[in-house]
Amino acid sequence: MDKLEILGARKLKGTIHISGSKNAALPILAATILSKKKIILKNLANVKDIETIIKLLESIGSIIKYSKNKNSISIHNKYKLKTFASYNMLKTMRGSFLVLGSMLARYGKAKVSTPGGCSIGVRPIDIHLKALAKLGVSYKIIDGYVHAYSKTKLKGSKIKFPKISVGATENLIIASSMAEGITILSNCAIEPEVKDLVNFINCIGGKIKWIGKRTLKIIGVNNFKEGNYKIMPDRIEAGTYLIAAAVTGGNLKISGINPNIIKTEIDVLRKIGIQIKTKKELIFISGVNKIKNINLKTAPYPGFPTDLQAQLMVLLCKSKKHSIIKEEIFENRFMHVAELNRMGAKIKTKGNKAFIEGNTKFKGAELMATDLRASVSLILAALNAKGKTTINRIYHLDRGYEKLEKKLRKVGAKIRRVS
Ligand code: UD1
Repeated sequence: MDKLEILGARKLKGTIHISGSKNAALPILAATILSKKKIILKNLANVKDIETIIKLLESIGSIIKYSKNKNSISIHNKYKLKTFASYNMLKTMRGSFLVLGSMLARYGKAKVSTPGGCSIGVRPIDIHLKALAKLGVSYKIIDGYVHAYSKTKLKGSKIKFPKISVGATENLIIASSMAEGITILSNCAIEPEVKDLVNFINCIGGKIKWIGKRTLKIIGVNNFKEGNYKIMPDRIEAGTYLIAAAVTGGNLKISGINPNIIKTEIDVLRKIGIQIKTKKELIFISGVNKIKNINLKTAPYPGFPTDLQAQLMVLLCKSKKHSIIKEEIFENRFMHVAELNRMGAKIKTKGNKAFIEGNTKFKGAELMATDLRASVSLILAALNAKGKTTINRIYHLDRGYEKLEKKLRKVGAKIRRVS
């Protein structure tokens, strides 16, 4: 199994270009099922999760062609597709569960595996299913599969989500974009990736409009057309590299992302003393010697993202004083803590709170990656650490970071993959 070896204590300097967003690409790829016409998607990141959902599309009959660099693809669903998504396609990630909405919209039936176990918490699908029922969908869960069907075309409805959920909002946007009549979705997630999905569906002929901060009006349409769409940049990847610059005391130019979509993250970094300048699609960041402490909680967008919690924690270990992070989205998202403590951090957790003592001098160690964002936080600590760090089980990283070692090496990191 591949490992990463990192020799730390080097300042990063140079430019890192941000790849296409994984979390925007997954729902958009699921939504391509809506159209019988050819769709071209650009700015697709070459990461495992995207590869997996593309394999799923191929397994149900989509005709897919890649560009040479695999950063754009054409998808043509001109023949009748299968309405089955197997456990194999869903066991490693939840994103594929979004094909449920598009299969139901186009064919009125679907058999989709429930998403596989996930180390960061229980991650149920009750909100997705109860909301789909309001569009006229009946469902049963038998042997780990959701069997869903609707005798008639899905029917538009008024749905208020009981809790903000990115995935449930996306599944319902996709399903109701073909439902008869009008659907009003309220208490929606408003993550930029949800907005990218809405823009994509509108680009292929959907009629979706934001009529309030968290409210969508969706007029169902019968047919979708061809489309050519560029996926938004990955804001979590951008946030990760900003923290990489800060934690190594380096100077990075982050290109290819509009700083406005990561305003909260930039504000937090500025608050703790990091120097950041922004231009249209550029962010300049300089690390500093003294990092201030902060108390913060994760929250749905525009709050601080849970997907950047582990990375920020590494940076707060370097602060002169004590910080607290409260994880409000997932119940078990502190697996990185034990590994960071093995590198010299002093972090204690109680329930959903992490108490981070500052003044950490990270030391290289042999570590185990546990999930996507936890793995990358270990890399950030290793970039700061004295000595060599070896990170095992790095397949988690390959799920979501495109060319991570290459990008880091280009700005001066000593990092290599060992098989
Ligand atoms: C998405 C992102 C993930 C990110 C998360 C929160 C993708 C592919 N993944 O995950 O990277 O960390 O948003 O920003 O885009 N919940 C329920 N019942 C449901 C659905 C969700 O109780 O039916 C709960 C979850 O357990 C969690 C909270 O709602 O506590 C938010 O989860 P949700 O926003 O749905 O996350 P995902 O869409 O799975």
